[in-house]
Amino acid sequence: MTRPLIYAANWKMYHPPGVAAAFVTRFRELTAPREGRTLWFFPPAVSLQTVAERFADREDVKVGAQNVHWEEKGAFTGETSVAMVAGSGGSGALVGHSERRHVFGESDEETARKVRALLAAGHQAILCVGEKLEQREAGQTEEVVGRQLMAVLDGLPAHEAARLVLAYEPVWAIGTGRVAKPADAALVHAYIRTAFAAHGVAGRVPVLYGGSVNAGNVLGLVAEEQVDGVLVGGASLDAEGWAEIVGMGG
Ligand code: PGA
Repeated sequence: MTRPLIYAANWKMYHPPGVAAAFVTRFRELTAPREGRTLWFFPPAVSLQTVAERFADREDVKVGAQNVHWEEKGAFTGETSVAMVAGSGGSGALVGHSERRHVFGESDEETARKVRALLAAGHQAILCVGEKLEQREAGQTEEVVGRQLMAVLDGLPAHEAARLVLAYEPVWAIGTGRVAKPADAALVHAYIRTAFAAHGVAGRVPVLYGGSVNAGNVLGLVAEEQVDGVLVGGASLDAEGWAEIVGMGG
C-alpha cells in the first residue's frame, strides 16, 4: 500500500459559489479517488456548502472552513461557528493560518480555543504553524514553532492532541514563490513530531508542508518521509492544475 498522503487546497478569499461549483465539476472529470490519498478543500465560508454537496459521494474528499469561532452561537458579527460549518457539510477547519495570525492579529490563545472547539465537536483541526523570515534568519524557527504548538498542546490531553493534523507553513514561503528546501522542511516536521512525542502522543500525527507548493516542487516535498502531504494556496485555484498536483507523489 502507498504511504497515506493529504493534499489540501486553501482557496483563501477566492472562488465564490458559482466559480466553486464549476471548479468541482471540472475537477471531478479529471480525478478519481486514490488509495491512501485524502483531499481537503478549504473554500471561503460562503462556498462551503456548494463544494461539500458536490463532493458528497467522494469518500476521499473532505471539506472544511478556513477559520472558525470557538463559541457555538451568539453576537459575534462576521464569525462562523463549528456547528455552522457542520451544517454546511464541512468536517473541519484550518486554524492559525499565518494570514489569520499576522494579517488579522489572531493570538496563540485564540488559536488554542478554536482547536479545542473543533476537537470537542469531533471535527478535524488543521493547525498551521510557521516562522517569519527574520525569525528564521535569527535561528528562531524551533522557538517560534514550539511556542505556537505549546499554546495549543498545553492542557490538551494526549489522546485529543493525537487527532490533530499539522501544517508547517513558513511565512516567508507563503505566496512568495520561495519554497522551503524539502530537507529543511523535514527538519521542522521532525521537530514538531518530537514536541508531540514529548506531550505523550504515541501515534504519528500527520504534518503537511505549505508555502509556494506547485506541480514543479510537490514531488520533492512528499518524497521526504517526514512530509505527509501539502497545504496549497495559489496552485490549488485552477481545477486542471490542482487535479495534476493531487495525482502526483506517493
Ligand atoms: P501558497 O499558500 O501555496 O499560495 O503559498 C499556501 C497557504 O497559505 O496555505
